Amino acid sequence: MQSHEQLAWLPPGDVWLDDEGQIIQAHGGGMLIFEGRYYWYGENRDVPPGQGNVKGVSCYSSTDLVHWTHHGVVLPVVHDAPDHDLYFRKVIERPKVIYNARTRQFVMVLHIDSPDYKYARVGFAVSEAPTGPFVYLGSVRPNNSESRDMTVFQDDDGQAYLFYASEGNATMHIAKLSDDYLHVEPDYIRIFENEYREAPAVFKRRGKYFLITSGCSGWEPNAAQYAVADSILGPWEVVGNPCRGPGADKTFGAQGTFVLPVQDRNTWIFMADRWKPKQLWNSRYIWLPIHFLADDRIVIRWEGGAAERTGHGGQENA
Ligand code: DGJ
Repeated sequence: MQSHEQLAWLPPGDVWLDDEGQIIQAHGGGMLIFEGRYYWYGENRDVPPGQGNVKGVSCYSSTDLVHWTHHGVVLPVVHDAPDHDLYFRKVIERPKVIYNARTRQFVMVLHIDSPDYKYARVGFAVSEAPTGPFVYLGSVRPNNSESRDMTVFQDDDGQAYLFYASEGNATMHIAKLSDDYLHVEPDYIRIFENEYREAPAVFKRRGKYFLITSGCSGWEPNAAQYAVADSILGPWEVVGNPCRGPGADKTFGAQGTFVLPVQDRNTWIFMADRWKPKQLWNSRYIWLPIHFLADDRIVIRWEGGAAERTGHGGQENA
């Protein structure tokens, strides 16, 4: 159903504040839409220098994408167990949450790593409520393969998939998750072989699957690339950079993390992080609408002003 109501969100690149006036800490994040609310999960990087990488995963919620209520750190790091996956000096990145209607659990899937990024695992946590607290279950190397930047995608039939940068980040894998979303199934496909893509963000529109990735250049921005498929398990057709205009070769200084489908508004929002490597807590959010051309081609432009940015019909000609 297409609505003509306008959809707006905060200005990309500005300082975004929560309901308490604090800078929103939801980096490398993802969004869950549940019972009419948006739940935004991401890395809380509000840690003093030398006090580790991350505070844990924070959750914010909103009904309008503009006003965000902070629900606190729903998966905190631990300080007293250096071997624990969530030890405060380790890497905890790119959390994504999906709801499992069968088990009635909210399942968080996230990148767990050592400070040198050699541990390369995917972790799982569960909660009875979207606002936590999440209970950490542990991490795996899916199919005995490395898993760094990752995302999960839940299809309309409830099947969930894990996309993860593997093989030294050279090749991305896609595997099904088990029915309870807590295990990675043994079969997987390899895509972007030796292309070094990371930061996967997946969405579906009119039966087609889209996957936007970044290149691998640490915290520095690079050119995005997207691929399209009729089936999640491939084949994926690599199309090219969806970004257009000044800054397009560097994804407008940002790196993708999620695509938020606001389907009743016929709008898909590309969510990206403009990292500040020396002040990760102060990194900015860049959310831009995705425009759809004929033949399942997409375009993302810098759209900074509120009037430019508000909801659109989704289809354009050139
Ligand atoms: C790029 C990844 O996408 C980020 O999540 C983070 O792991 C940085 N690399 C670290 O350099």
